[in-house]
Amino acid sequence: MSSTHSPIEVTSDELRAMSPEEQMLAGAEADGVHVVHRRNRFPIPGTKAEKRAERGVAMCFLISALAGVGFVVAFVAMPFHWHLPGTPQTFRFYTPALGGLLAVMMLFMGVGLVLWAKWLMPEEEVVQDRHDEPSTEEDRLLTQATLMVGIDDTGLPRRSLILRTLGLAGGAIATVPLIAMVGGMIKKPGKQLEHTLFTPNPKLFPPAGLVPLVYSDWRRVSPDDILPGGIATVFPGIREVGADGKTGVTSASSPTLIIRLRPGQKVEARKGQASYGWPANAPEYVAFSKICTHAGCPASLYEQQTTRLLCPCHQSQFEVLKDAKPVFGPATRSLPKLPLGVEVGSDGRQYFVARSDYTEPIGPAYWERS
Ligand code: FES
Repeated sequence: MSSTHSPIEVTSDELRAMSPEEQMLAGAEADGVHVVHRRNRFPIPGTKAEKRAERGVAMCFLISALAGVGFVVAFVAMPFHWHLPGTPQTFRFYTPALGGLLAVMMLFMGVGLVLWAKWLMPEEEVVQDRHDEPSTEEDRLLTQATLMVGIDDTGLPRRSLILRTLGLAGGAIATVPLIAMVGGMIKKPGKQLEHTLFTPNPKLFPPAGLVPLVYSDWRRVSPDDILPGGIATVFPGIREVGADGKTGVTSASSPTLIIRLRPGQKVEARKGQASYGWPANAPEYVAFSKICTHAGCPASLYEQQTTRLLCPCHQSQFEVLKDAKPVFGPATRSLPKLPLGVEVGSDGRQYFVARSDYTEPIGPAYWERS
């Protein structure tokens, strides 16, 4: 290919006298782009074949738009909460459904655009020289004409069906980034971020309503289960009626870590929280929210030797003997502490209960903004 810019051999007045297509071809030649073959696929507009091709393209855009509507509906209406093992896990199709619908949306938008170019726009072959120099005014006029003919080639001004379905599909795709914001307004958290399932509930656990602490398989947690220096992950033992009509723990919004201190260890409690461990007067067991206050990962790597709890996500460390105060990493807030107690079960053994809900929001510090 030549690397020189061809001179434009027509004046501005001559160009203005030409039709847009002639201008485009002249401009292409002047620009070193040689149109060696150009043919309108449907020289007679409105034939059955043209309508058929147009409907095929419109169908792709319509499918893309419907997938976009499905995406919004799935985002708002599908169950997405995780539940404890052994209970119905209705959330498992949530993410695949969103991903699948987004894929269908993008795929049919792409297929529609390709078919539009292949089936409806003029067929042409061009050979282009390489350019080195800046554009002249004539060049710019010719480029403008090329763009005008390009838009005309799409047939958009007279293909209202494609225009409408393309608008629908494009609108659906454009809404995807807005879904998180709009969805956040539809799925308002309300007061639920201020409470966990450890809130005492006399209806479920009369008379005092203290919530039992259980393992993920619903066994109750006894102080004897945990060796000195050991830990256990526990949940509020609230049985609820699941989708299958059976009762069980259906939600685990507040995983909690019980730590048994080693002999001689003592927690330097924060103001007003000295009695939150068990026994209240000289705590040997303390319970902290397992949800890291940085970004919500499970902070559950406990180093007995250093008495630090590590979060594996961004390496925050919490000093357990200072009431889980952050001492390293990006977390800035102590892990909330659960007021711990015990009650005697029907078998005569002691079992842990939550004496009240957490007294501060669990999870990332972000929620403190509310
Ligand atoms: S989520 Fe724990 S350190 Fe980031």
